[in-house]
Amino acid sequence: MTVHLKQDEPDTSNRLDGMKQGVIGQPISRVEGLAKVTGTAPYAAEYPIEGCVEGVLATATITRGEILKIDKDSVLGMPGVIAVIDDPRLTTRAAQGTANEAPQQSPRTVCYWGQPIALVVAETFEQARDAAKHLAVEYRPHDGAPLSPDAVEPEEQEDETVRQGDLVHAMSEAAHSVDVTFTTKGHASAAMEPHAAIAQWDGDQLTVHASLQMLNYNISELADAIDLPEEKVRLVSRFVGGGFGSKLGVSEETVAAAIAAMQLERPVRVVMSRQQVFQCIMRRSETTQRLRLAADQKGRLTGFGHEALVSNLPGETFAEPVLQSSHFLYAAQNRKLMLEVARIHRMTAGSVRAPGEAVGMPALEGAMDVLAERAGIDPVELRLRNIPKENPEEGLPFSSHKLAECLREGAEAFGWDSGPRKPRQKRKGEWWVGTGMASAARVHNVGEAKARVTLKPDGTALVETDMTDIGTGTYTILAQIAGEMLGLDPENVLVDLGDTRHPRGPGSGGSWGASSSGSAVYVACKALREELADRVGVTETKLDLADGKVAGGHSLAQVLAGEPLAREGHYEPGAIADDFTAAGFGAFFAQVRVNHFTGESRVDRMLGAFGFGRVLNRKTARSQCLGGITWSIGAALTEALEFDPRDGHLVNCDLAEYHVPVHRDVPDLEVIMVEERDPAASPIQAKGIGELGMCGGAAAIGNAIYNACGARLFDYPMTPDRVL
Ligand code: MOS
Repeated sequence: MTVHLKQDEPDTSNRLDGMKQGVIGQPISRVEGLAKVTGTAPYAAEYPIEGCVEGVLATATITRGEILKIDKDSVLGMPGVIAVIDDPRLTTRAAQGTANEAPQQSPRTVCYWGQPIALVVAETFEQARDAAKHLAVEYRPHDGAPLSPDAVEPEEQEDETVRQGDLVHAMSEAAHSVDVTFTTKGHASAAMEPHAAIAQWDGDQLTVHASLQMLNYNISELADAIDLPEEKVRLVSRFVGGGFGSKLGVSEETVAAAIAAMQLERPVRVVMSRQQVFQCIMRRSETTQRLRLAADQKGRLTGFGHEALVSNLPGETFAEPVLQSSHFLYAAQNRKLMLEVARIHRMTAGSVRAPGEAVGMPALEGAMDVLAERAGIDPVELRLRNIPKENPEEGLPFSSHKLAECLREGAEAFGWDSGPRKPRQKRKGEWWVGTGMASAARVHNVGEAKARVTLKPDGTALVETDMTDIGTGTYTILAQIAGEMLGLDPENVLVDLGDTRHPRGPGSGGSWGASSSGSAVYVACKALREELADRVGVTETKLDLADGKVAGGHSLAQVLAGEPLAREGHYEPGAIADDFTAAGFGAFFAQVRVNHFTGESRVDRMLGAFGFGRVLNRKTARSQCLGGITWSIGAALTEALEFDPRDGHLVNCDLAEYHVPVHRDVPDLEVIMVEERDPAASPIQAKGIGELGMCGGAAAIGNAIYNACGARLFDYPMTPDRVL
């Protein structure tokens, strides 16, 4: 039996707060943690499947052009080689993000260096890898492919453009103004687990174990790519070793494994090398961003301009949504926002952790720091003065808004000195020491989701949904929601995820996973409670469940009459989505030291204060924030994709050359959660948490570099050569 909840208005009933079990919000360790750290959790490539052969992708060595011939005979005689699959369908291109259709391309066309073009299948991985390297391919290259965003005339994304009032006039009348241009480099998702898939026929059904974030969407993509009806495909992703956007859509390894398994009638495994993951999955676009801020004597914004240039391949629909939070973060009557895309032949640009805000916020918050200095106003105070009462462009109310609290509580906990600020005031040996801060903001999204919850007479429950756990804690929080609602210890709730045979939902992406799938579980549990209440003759709100017992002396087994009871929850965001602007807010504070002689910057300490609705598990929520702040350190100081200007290929394509922060780069971080209930954000009053921790944090570090040593930098990452 399915129970449907379409949310059209705020849900103020606070059901999760009134329960007896008291497990919601508790900092419970991840239930799959032990399996992961002991190596017993199987990742996509690790399923032992009898007779499985190995596929390795061959990739293009030209930037743009046509494939004239793939000479299969060049490798078919090599040891162990079984087949070369050059089916044009395997080149789907990495998925573009959330709901965009990947455009079809002509089968024999190459549009970036490193693009997968064929799959070589052999008995062993080494044989397949060797043969893939030796596969002879004849190309007709097209010269002159534009490789850099400044080489082409960009296309305006008209849906993003906002023009309100007269920004130029506001700038000329302003008591204080800022007109600066920031740049950010491309980023890689760099998930630990490389992209991998095993495809196998099971009767007339194709089962694919893959590493994916959004199975409900991925099954349609895959079925489409291989011309099979969706009912014949089963996707399984029980454990995912990080996604960060790179596994939102199916990519070539999954499609290639499926096609090869169909053609060879054998199970086929395809694992991308680390270099292939970097070179052909997707990149975050580099950006160039002009910020114009006009303010009155008191630092109140009268004009706000944010114009960004990003890039992607011709025909791709994704454009890094740089302005996403700029639309509503600060009030100003005169506004101009514009996003442009340059069509160039670097690998596909797509969603990488916190698409948009991850790079938009560091630029905006860097510009705000310049304004604070020019206006002689404390940076925290400047932000407080510019918090709008409602969305300044659309006039919508905010569903909830904790920016001011985060700024104040964060400043207090950090020990922020709101006295007059001047750079180069503090030196310890060869290090200049400074502090900086920035606001955080990230839009909140939810999606339609279904989950089945079965309550069993033995006092356990089973939760089933195709939702994934990409390391974020889904297994744990869904057990907590069901445990709280049904009066069970979460240890007695078995959560079964990552299988398209289960009721489906929006998966993990855009920080919507917990609030969407959590709401489906909540709806199912509420329906179970109603049935139980009915059976014992009370109203649902009076039904007292705790520790596997029904208050009033009934055992669960009695009330269930020995039979399991199941309900499917179907949650759908309704009209409410158009009535509010919903976002997570926060504040970052950083202390940084900069070496006088080498220009090296080190983060000494960093604090983030965040308000993002109900916290379902204080440990997993905090861990998400820690991960986000760590990404902020990477974005500020080290992470940058470098492309060869001759052919556009990605040069630094592994973790030795693409520098993510390591333990030595990350000091003790402090996270403050400003708890709130957001009854409009979702039925469980939770908002997105995952990505907020990196939406602005890089600016707190950049602003601290300026405060430390006086170098005002406008280009991220702020590497030593730029500091000096
Ligand atoms: Mo996220 S970049 O939507 O996984």
